[in-house]
This record gives sequence, C-alpha cells and structure tokens, in this order.
Amino acid sequence: MKIGIVGVGTVGRSVVEILQENKEIISARAGVEITPVIGVARDIESKKDLDILLTTSIDELLDSDIDVVVELMGGVEKPYEIVTKALERGKSVVTANKALLAYHRYELQTKAGELGFGFEASVAGGIPIIKSLREGLSANHIESIVGIMNGTCNFILTKMMSEGAEFAPTLKEAQELGYAEADPTFDIGGFDAAHKLLILASIAYGIDAKPEDILIEGIESITSDDISFAKEFGYSIKLLTIAKKVGDKVELRVHPALIKNEKMIAKVDGVMNAVSVYGDKVGETMYYGPGAGGNATASAVVADLIDIARNGKNAQTSPMLGFTKPLEKNLSLANKGDVETKYYIRMNVKDETGVLATVAKILGDKDISIETFLQSPHTKKDNITTILLSTHSCQEVKVMEAFDEIEQLSISQGRPSMIRIE
Ligand code: HSE
Repeated sequence: MKIGIVGVGTVGRSVVEILQENKEIISARAGVEITPVIGVARDIESKKDLDILLTTSIDELLDSDIDVVVELMGGVEKPYEIVTKALERGKSVVTANKALLAYHRYELQTKAGELGFGFEASVAGGIPIIKSLREGLSANHIESIVGIMNGTCNFILTKMMSEGAEFAPTLKEAQELGYAEADPTFDIGGFDAAHKLLILASIAYGIDAKPEDILIEGIESITSDDISFAKEFGYSIKLLTIAKKVGDKVELRVHPALIKNEKMIAKVDGVMNAVSVYGDKVGETMYYGPGAGGNATASAVVADLIDIARNGKNAQTSPMLGFTKPLEKNLSLANKGDVETKYYIRMNVKDETGVLATVAKILGDKDISIETFLQSPHTKKDNITTILLSTHSCQEVKVMEAFDEIEQLSISQGRPSMIRIE
C-alpha cells in the first residue's frame, strides 16, 4: 500500500520514520507493506534526509498512484478541499486534523462512504480514544467524558503549579518541544481541546455541534493568585474538556477547572493527556498517554494506515462517527449558560470596613453559598486587596448576575473572575 503525506512536518517525519524503522512488524500486522512514497512540504531542503519523493505540489501528490493520502497540514478549508479531491479519486484518507473534523466531519463521513477514513490521531495524540469509544464502549450510553486533551496547556499549568513558572516562557518551551499548534492561541484559548471534544461528542452522542455552539474558555487569565488559592486548598488547575449527559441534553464545555489533588485526573502532568469515560454499563474507564509530539501522534496515524491496509478498499468496517443510523430520540446540546457546579471566585476590592459583608450579601441573595475564603495578606497599591473564595454548587447564571452587581460597587476594581470546580 502506497501512501502520500500532505504536510511533512514533525508528525509527517515521524510517520515516515516509523513506517521505515518498524517495517517488519507493521507489514506482518497489516498483511501488506505500507510504503511512504511522496510528501508535500513547504521547506523541502530540511527534509532531504527522508527517503521519499518530496514536492511542493499537492496536485503532483494527488495525481500519483498512491492508495492513501495522509493529511497533516492543519487548517480547515484547504485541507477540506484536498481531502475531498483525494476521496473523489478513490483514495483513502488518514488525518490528524481536528480543526478540519470539528467543522466538516459529517460531510466527510458522507464523502468517504466505504473508503477508509482514519482520524485516531486527531484526539489525544497517541491514546486510542476514538477506537475505544466507537468500538470498545459501543454497548453503553455514555454518561460523561472528562479529559485533559491539550498537552500544551497541561505542560504550562503543571509548570506554573509546581515550579512557579511564568506563562510566556513556558509556552515558548512547549512550542520548541513541538507540542503547540502552529498558532498557539488554539492551544491556550481552548479551541484545540474543543475541536477534539466535538469529535468525541459525535461518536458518543451523535451530536453535530460546531465550536461556536459550545462553551470554550482558555488558560490565558490564570494568575499567580489562582495558583496560590489552588495550592492552599489542595486543588490542581487543569484545562478540562467535558461532555456530560444531563437528562436528554449534553453539556459540551472546555475551561480551566480546579480539581481536588486526590482525583486521578489531577495527577496527569506535563504534556500527558488523559480521558475518563463513564459508560452506564461499564462504569468508569480511563485512558492515559502522550497527547502531542511527533512519535505519539504518528503512532496513531500509522495504526489507521494498518487498519486501512487490513481491510482493503472497503476500509470502513465501523461507521466513521460511531452511528450506523440516527438515534430515535436525539440528544440535544445544552445551553452554554446552563452549567451548575462549584466555583472559585477572585475579586479585587478596596480593603475597607464592610466590604466583605456587602459582597457576601450579594452572593447570598443569589443563593450562592460560600465554602472557603482567603484574603491576600498583602494589600496592593491604593488600598486594594484580593479576595479569593469558593462556593457550594450553584447555577452559573446566578454567579454571572452576582458579578454584574459586584462590578458596579464603588469598592470594586473591575469584574470578578471565576474558575469552575469539578
Ligand atoms: N497542540 C496540541 C496539544 C497537539 O498541545 O495537545 C495535539 O493535538
């Protein structure tokens, strides 16, 4: 089986190397040899050591006699065009591109028909979570999926928590290590994790949502005060990717969250990813592994190639997005604001008599009950202090209403901010 790679970068290089270095075991598993023959790269010079034909022309690759196109270029519309052309020419496709699938997965499922279309590498890198959900857990109603699915954010948050590292240089380090997206705002803004969540939500619930339909918050505004509070009260801060079935609705959200240190997911550090899936019959299953980096991602790409080689031309042995026909009673997407959880709240206020009572009254009037409280011992310039508190479970809409009122107070220095506690 001959393959062509569109976008030979860190992952593409690893795909070629794995196929060459593990050639014997791969062909024994696949039943045929899988040979990388052609690759499209922007900078051919730096890839010259790879034993494949390199070109800058996508058409040259599509016109060649390859069986499978491996798409690793990133972006949405251009890869959609290329993948569509490949399928129209009867070539199977393997992609690691979660942004492409976040927007076009259902059209691509139709276009692929019986052709192979693998995308295991698009979610949580080397962890086989797509196969697990689509095949291993297919007997279950999925109650929830809670994951750490962005290695870059987890790398940054881990270093901020354990070493007191600063945000910007740690992001730079993640970029140098090849974890971050070409545009790292996709990582730190939560969009990369959201793309992954949408793919899993299709397989678990049959939900066709787009990134703009769901709650997405990144880690940009986490401060050293938040880190101190988390440490003081035994929490870790993680960017969580959450799908939760509540009645006939499904909440889909990506946001930083405080998690008690004793929870397994709180112990997932550095670039590692983890996904906990709760099925109504199986209970909780958990998957852990490297979510980014060349070899980890390429390991999933090559596994998809082996599947396609094993299954021949009609490579789609299980439905690409998990459902052979629609559910009779469709689940629908919950409203973004309908979240109910515990909250950690940070606010800057004037350090004056009665301030705390005023804030506590506003929260109390909204049925928000305070669980823990911390006031920074260091009063800042102009008599400003930072109040940190956590609440019992309450409605997010009430928290937002309380923030509107607190922001209007003369003692208040801007709008309070919050992190959800999971
Ligand atoms: N930028 C992604 C991450 C790579 O940091 O997890 C894998 O999708």
